[in-house]
Amino acid sequence: MFRTKTVEQSLRDTEEPEHALRKDLSAFDLTVFGVGVVIGTGIFVLTGKVAKENAGPSVALAFVLAGVVCGLAALCYAEFASTVPVAGSAYTFSYASLGELPAWIIGWDLILELALGCAVVAVGWSGYIRSLLDNAGVHLPLALSGTHEGRFGFDILACALVLLLTGILVAGMKLSSRVTAVVVSIKVTVVLIVIVVGAFFINGDNYHPFVPPSQSAAGGGGYKAPLVQLMFGFTPSNFGVMGIFSAAAVVFFAFIGFDIVATAAEETRNPQRDVPRGILGSLAICTVLYVAVSIVVTGMEKYSKLSTDAPLADAFKDAGHPFWAGLISFGAAVGLTTVCMILLLGQSRVFFAMSRDGLLPRIFSRVHPKYGTPYRSTILLGVIVAVLAGFTSIDVLAELVNIGTLFAFVVVALGVIILRRTRPDLPRAFRTPFVPVIPVLSVAASVWLMLNLTAETWLRFAIWMVVGFVMYFAYGQRHSRVGLEHRR
Ligand code: ALA
Repeated sequence: MFRTKTVEQSLRDTEEPEHALRKDLSAFDLTVFGVGVVIGTGIFVLTGKVAKENAGPSVALAFVLAGVVCGLAALCYAEFASTVPVAGSAYTFSYASLGELPAWIIGWDLILELALGCAVVAVGWSGYIRSLLDNAGVHLPLALSGTHEGRFGFDILACALVLLLTGILVAGMKLSSRVTAVVVSIKVTVVLIVIVVGAFFINGDNYHPFVPPSQSAAGGGGYKAPLVQLMFGFTPSNFGVMGIFSAAAVVFFAFIGFDIVATAAEETRNPQRDVPRGILGSLAICTVLYVAVSIVVTGMEKYSKLSTDAPLADAFKDAGHPFWAGLISFGAAVGLTTVCMILLLGQSRVFFAMSRDGLLPRIFSRVHPKYGTPYRSTILLGVIVAVLAGFTSIDVLAELVNIGTLFAFVVVALGVIILRRTRPDLPRAFRTPFVPVIPVLSVAASVWLMLNLTAETWLRFAIWMVVGFVMYFAYGQRHSRVGLEHRR
């Protein structure tokens, strides 16, 4: 269970021709990828909800906190990705350092981040498209508009988006990275418009109070309260200083994705140099943009009045500028497509790596003879995620995505410390500074954010993990390639 796969073995596997991915990405492609997947539902949708319900204008501080947690994790991911530049990210890293069972658990956990994340973003996208369609006087029947307030509906737009993206991914990396570059420029432009144009509509009074006084949560909390508040017997509350932490645990969603850059390491021409640049660069750009956007938006409109569906666009609408609002909705709708696509890409690569190792059926790791992409895992996952997106509602699942991702951060940071001990000899193009201080801080910071998620989220997470254990003992353990070699 704790057998590890050597780094050399991982690298050798990538050279088997029928399981090899094509290498044609540069540092710039990776940064574009990073920004493409990071800026999404988090800033376009969650900012408003969190400012309104948890933090007021201090949501800007929550973005800073979440950014710091991600920065610490990014330093650990960068070392790992530059040492083990193989598809599969945290999964591959833990196989090399912690052993097979932890690696399986991480692979299983990454499904929460990537597949579920993709579904959540697809649903967010379909919300923006519906609002644009509504403006144009086209109304979808309710039964095809997704589930709202307990009323069931199939989200046909979200489902269609995922299927379309699956097709693009099967056709090849280069095509998808070109599409990404165009979309990322539109998205960044829209975010800059919010910041620059919005700055003219700021009313200083909206910043008082910057940290709204703490209020007890309606209904006393229960499963809906952050675990940390229940553990230490606080009266569950919103706003105040604790509110900033709960807000940080939710807006953390906005940063998810920089770690996915690491999953493309194997398809990068010079991974040792370019992967760390791609990861740290995209994280830095996004943190600056998020803090600026949240300061501007909470300055434009009183936090209690912000909309929770399309807060950035609606702040402009409420300020009497429907033109800007329309442009922002359009940019958001375009921008969310790349987020969705890259999450799906990351998921198919992790699945590919797990299948190549025999922990999932090997047929999923054949690459396409012409396109050089892992088409079977991409198609299988695309269909599953499309169905999931059809039936999912955002609020329930965004927190589950966060807890899954934070858990992966914890394991990666521990893995950096362990691999330094067990394999000090490996060439590391990027070294995490101050080991073990930075990884330990990264673990502490990620666990702290996890504790600020609700008890309900923890329960769902625990159930998912138990199912994962069962799957490992039922299939993975017996079919593992590393295991088969041991037995020979
Ligand atoms: N960070 C991505 C988003 O905000 C997942 O949508």
